[in-house]
Amino acid sequence: MSSNIDLVIFGARGDLSKRKLFPALFELDRAGLLTDSVRIAGVARQDMDSVIFIEQMHEELKSGAKEGQWDESAWKRFSRRLHYIKVDFAQKKEFAALNEWAIEKRTIIYYLATPPSLYGSICKHLHDANCVNSVSRIVLEKPIGDDLESSRSVNDTVGQYFTERNIYRIDHYLGKETVQNLLALRFANRMINSQWDNSCIDHVQITVAETVGIEGRWSYYDKVGQLRDMVQNHLLQLLCMVAMEPPNALQADEIRAEKVKLLRALSPITADNVVAQAVRGQYAAGWVAGEPVVGYMEEEGSESDSSNNETYVALKVMIDNWRWAGVPFYLRTGKRLQEKVTQVVITYKDNPHSLFPETDGEANNRLVINLQPNEGIQLEMVSKKHSLKERLGLEKRSLNLDFFDSSGDSRIPDAYERLFLEVIKGDQWLFVSRDEIEASWNWCDTLLDAWDDKKIGTKSYSAGSWGPSKAEILIENDGRSWYEGK
Ligand code: BG6
Repeated sequence: MSSNIDLVIFGARGDLSKRKLFPALFELDRAGLLTDSVRIAGVARQDMDSVIFIEQMHEELKSGAKEGQWDESAWKRFSRRLHYIKVDFAQKKEFAALNEWAIEKRTIIYYLATPPSLYGSICKHLHDANCVNSVSRIVLEKPIGDDLESSRSVNDTVGQYFTERNIYRIDHYLGKETVQNLLALRFANRMINSQWDNSCIDHVQITVAETVGIEGRWSYYDKVGQLRDMVQNHLLQLLCMVAMEPPNALQADEIRAEKVKLLRALSPITADNVVAQAVRGQYAAGWVAGEPVVGYMEEEGSESDSSNNETYVALKVMIDNWRWAGVPFYLRTGKRLQEKVTQVVITYKDNPHSLFPETDGEANNRLVINLQPNEGIQLEMVSKKHSLKERLGLEKRSLNLDFFDSSGDSRIPDAYERLFLEVIKGDQWLFVSRDEIEASWNWCDTLLDAWDDKKIGTKSYSAGSWGPSKAEILIENDGRSWYEGK
């Protein structure tokens, strides 16, 4: 529970605020997780007053509610917290309005849902308007820079006004229930954690596949690409959760220290191994969920005839430490793929000696962790067939754990609900430290340089497929294949 907290959302009329931030705050309030005293201010350039802002919010939240589930009394309570403050972010003097709104001895959390290019000036103006004190917190959306150097510069600028313990860098994947569940799965289950290394595990696959394209974000996305947009943050964070050493305790500092160690142990992909270990793809026109869709170059906003920007990445990543030496981690992520799925698949090694030659070469045990959708875990095992015809015939069966059914709560909270709760509590365990951001940029920069050095272009794939054929070859060269189960 929270007290004496004020939340100030910059970019309150932007897409993220409308789709994610205000709905998440509304849900938290509805669940009774915000104390009465919490105030929420939306800040944006638009000329309007609190009454109009609240009316607009009412419409937006109501239209986003599932049919028959709108809760007007919860809204009434929520609306009493809301305020609107008009601020042109470029105008220093307009920040005085925030100072007037602030109440002494309360903790203010500033949430910057704005283009990252504004982070520095917003922090400076807040500081100059006396809106920052030793307990004020700031929440930053990704991307923090687009390479190591620029991320350092953003971190340095923000760091002039806020101390590291008051900076909350969002990676919304860490707010997902199922991603947090990786910690429980790994560290609360002796059976799992005693077999979580290169003596038992053959390889790991992490897939973050999306069916959406670039969703009208050409001007952003064409400068960024899938490596910066998804791998540098979400996939490497998932990799950390799967592969880091057990932290000494489940505290922010301990968890983040382990993640940094892991990121620093990633073997670089350089000009020497980039062809064998990395594939870039770009979608061409195709069909997704039975509907025709255009290719990347024909997307709204595209102004050029060609672009070498990737919408798909497949990687073979090695980790240079004792636990994982020799175990490949295959990562893939792309837009306009066949299905939306985020999944971690752990394939165990064969038995040291085989009593069942018919299973040789096939993975006997596989742990499939579905992070979204169909949140749950399947453990594939081999058992005897019920049959008198065969002496000891075998079949593969699965032990299934369905998070959705067994949670007792039919709604899986949105990632932003959890992240707001943690920042209100002042707990950084689900936020990314400066060291993590910089370690992951450092590794990504080496790969980006290798692509440049070797002039590696993108391979085309049809929208609605599983990516370019080169990605199949990447894993098949090691005698393995991408997991195709559900
Ligand atoms: C965002 C990326 O961080 O994550 C988007 O910028 C991507 O390109 C999105 O579509 C995916 O998030 P989720 O929660 O839908 O898997």
